[in-house]
This record gives sequence, C-alpha cells and structure tokens, in this order.
Amino acid sequence: MDKFIIEGGRRLVGAVRISGSKNAALAIIPSVLLAPGVFRLRNTPNIRDIWTMSRLLGAMGAHCELNGSELFVDSNGVNSFEAPYEHVKKMRASINVLGPLVARFGRAKVSLPGGCAFGPRPIDLHLKGLEKLGAEIGIENGYIIANAQRLRGARIHFDISSVGATENILSAAVLADGVTTITNAAIEPEVSALAKMLVKMGAKISGIGTATLEIEGVKELHAVEEENLPDRIEAATFLIAAAITQGKIVLENVNPYHLTAVIAKMEEAGCEFDVTGPNISMELNQPPKPIDATTAPYPGFPTDVQAQWVALMLTAQGSCRATDTIYPTRFHHVPELLRLGAHIEVADNTAIIHGGRPLSGASVMSSDLRASASLILAALAAQGRSEILRVYHLDRGYENIEKKLEQLGASIQRVKTEDF
Ligand code: EPU
Repeated sequence: MDKFIIEGGRRLVGAVRISGSKNAALAIIPSVLLAPGVFRLRNTPNIRDIWTMSRLLGAMGAHCELNGSELFVDSNGVNSFEAPYEHVKKMRASINVLGPLVARFGRAKVSLPGGCAFGPRPIDLHLKGLEKLGAEIGIENGYIIANAQRLRGARIHFDISSVGATENILSAAVLADGVTTITNAAIEPEVSALAKMLVKMGAKISGIGTATLEIEGVKELHAVEEENLPDRIEAATFLIAAAITQGKIVLENVNPYHLTAVIAKMEEAGCEFDVTGPNISMELNQPPKPIDATTAPYPGFPTDVQAQWVALMLTAQGSCRATDTIYPTRFHHVPELLRLGAHIEVADNTAIIHGGRPLSGASVMSSDLRASASLILAALAAQGRSEILRVYHLDRGYENIEKKLEQLGASIQRVKTEDF
C-alpha cells in the first residue's frame, strides 16, 4: 500500500490541467449496457474507480480498454446481468448498473453496497423508483434481485434529491413503455451529462438540468461517442491547494459555471479570481478570512468539497463552521487533522474550526477519498514533513495527484509501504 511524504510550507504556483469527472464517468459508463455496440468516451479519468467499473462491465461480457483518456467499450458481448460483491464492495457506484440492466435485459442481480466510511448511504430511493416502473425487487443473500418483463413509465417523486437514484431511474426509464416523470430530480451536472449522453443514444428526455425530468420511453438505443465533463471536485481541490499555500494557480479544462458556489466562497475568503473560457486563475496573498460553509445539493456548496474547506479554514485567522447537510457524519478527516495541530470541534453535523494555529507535519491516515484530499492540503500548509498513509483512497478519484502537485512546486513523494 502506498503512502505520500509531503514537506509542507511551499507556495504552489503554476498551471494544472483538470481531468475528466469521476462521478460523471461513473454515471455515463454503465449506460453502455443499454445498447449493443462500440462506445468511445473521451476525457475519462485514469483512476481506480474507472478501472473497477471497467472490470465490472468486463465480468458482464463487455470489452473495455482505457487508452490515455479515451475509454473504448464494446458492449456487444454482454451476457451476464450480475454485479458481484467483489466489485461492489470496492465501489458503491457499481449500483449504477442496476437501472440499465433491468431496463434492457429484464433482470439484474446486484450486490447491496452496504455502509460507507463516512456513514450510512441508503439506496431505498433507487429501489422504490424501480418498483414504480414495474420491477419486482427482492433482497436475497446480500443481493438485490430485480426482474421485470418490460418496465412501464410512471410518476416518480424523490423525497430527497439523490444523484445516484436520479441516474439509475433515468437510465431505466429511457427503455420503459410510456412516459416517466421524475420530480425533485437531482440537478448536478453529472446527472445532466448522463441525460445528454442518453439523448445522443436515441432517448427522449426533456427538462435536462431541471428538477423535473420527463422521459418518453423508446424501443431501443444505439452506441455513441461522448466527451466527459471536467471534474469540478478535482478543480475545487486544486484551487484550495493553491489558496492554502497562499499561492497562484491556473486551472485548465474546467467548466467555471459548475464551480460557482466554490468560487463564491473562496472570494468571500479573499481569493481573487479571473475566469477566461475554460480556464480559471486564482491568487491569494494573505491568510484567508474565516468563512462558514454549508453543503447543499447542486448548485449549493458540494459535500465533496467540505473536507477540503475545513483544511483551508485551518489557515484562516479566526473561527468558522463547516456544516454537512448531505452526510452529517462526514468528518473522518477531523481527528487526523488534529494530529497536524488543528483545533476543530465537531458537534452534530458541524465542524467548528478555530483557524490560525500553526500546523506541523505528522503521520496521518486516509479514511475516504475527500478526507484524504483534506489531509494532503493540510500537509501542504504544515511546517515540516507529513506522511499520508493509505493513499489508495486518493487513487480512486484523483488522477496523478502527486505529479500535478509537484508540477505546482509541492514536495510530495509516493512511497511503497507494507503498512496497513
Ligand atoms: N439518499 C437516501 N436514499 C437513497 C439515496 C440517497 O436517503 O436511496 C440520501 C443520502 O444518504 C444522502 C443524500 O440522499 O444524504 C444524497 O445522496 P446521493 O444519492 O445524491 O449520493 P450518491 O449518488 O450516492 C453521489 C456522489 C458522491 C457525492 C454525492 C452527493 C457518485 C459516484 N457519488 O453519491 O460522491 O458525495 O452524490 O453529491 O456520483 C465522492 O466523489 O467523493 C462522493 C462521495
């Protein structure tokens, strides 16, 4: 298992190219199950979660190859409708195959994803939505067993805005008989990316980008070439990496519009931005101001940037709060940040951050993807040497993170280790 050694205290300056979005890729790749043919998905990030998704599709009979940032998938040979535990336990987003499998093949057996490092993550909305479309759902030996002769369009209202449930139901409804309406649909850019790809494949969807999606089922879909979105969470992480070291950065290949909430918060904290086309420049020359952040579904401040925001606020002069309304227990980064000298209290779904204390290098342990990113950021700001253990969490979602940080002037080294 690898670890990172970081010598902190260096100002990051330079340009970095942002990779394709992990979460959009994990939404659009399973839609290859909806049609036989050859798909080419450009701007796919070369990260562990994509390898896992490719292996899962491979186990179902598809052929996947990642060449640079282009994922090639031949779905002609799909002949198994099962997502085994060995894949699902590595990556919850494996559940995204459920909707496409039931819609096209009338059956699916998908391992239940179970818990997550940062708390419970139910899938009741996915299952209720499929039942409304006419699927019979049972749970046997830790597996979801879904069957349907043919799905039928239905009116589906989600109690909570859910990215994954919207994606799964949307992918199922495109091949259902009749019209499906999804209300309180998630409006994250990753959901719209999936909807746009489905339309390219021949689906009939209106209301893309809004909380009401109307889908008129079609008999069949066809394979396409598609360009993935830039990763807005990777982009936010690099903006914060520069800000936490009072540096200067240019992000290339981003969609600035998707980063509106993050940019607004960073501006409140004193960061200066210049946005030109798909590039964002950001500079911060003094400690940030302490600014509260509360996570919310898009276009609100993303839960996937909460941990990184907590790290940034450690360098602010004063106290502030970070509240996570999406995942109230997503604070596993906090005990590890304390090891670097941070002063943070957690009460219910809120971290109270007392910034301005000097941070000093230490050994810390990654527990999940964004918590790990937060530790890296804090280590970049800390004086002296830090070790970040279990970086496989980072490898799931950040492409070449150490190379990109090094290019900006960070001292970061990957070391192979036997530690667990
Ligand atoms: N929820 C339910 N029931 C459900 C589904 C969700 O109660 O059936 C609740 C969740 O517990 C949560 C809220 O609804 O409180 C929103 O969860 P959502 O379903 O939107 O999350 P997800 O689809 O499982 C995706 C991202 C996450 C990101 C969340 C929220 C992917 C592969 N994952 O998860 O990304 O945090 O949306 O934006 O798209 C990450 O990249 O680090 C990550 C965890």
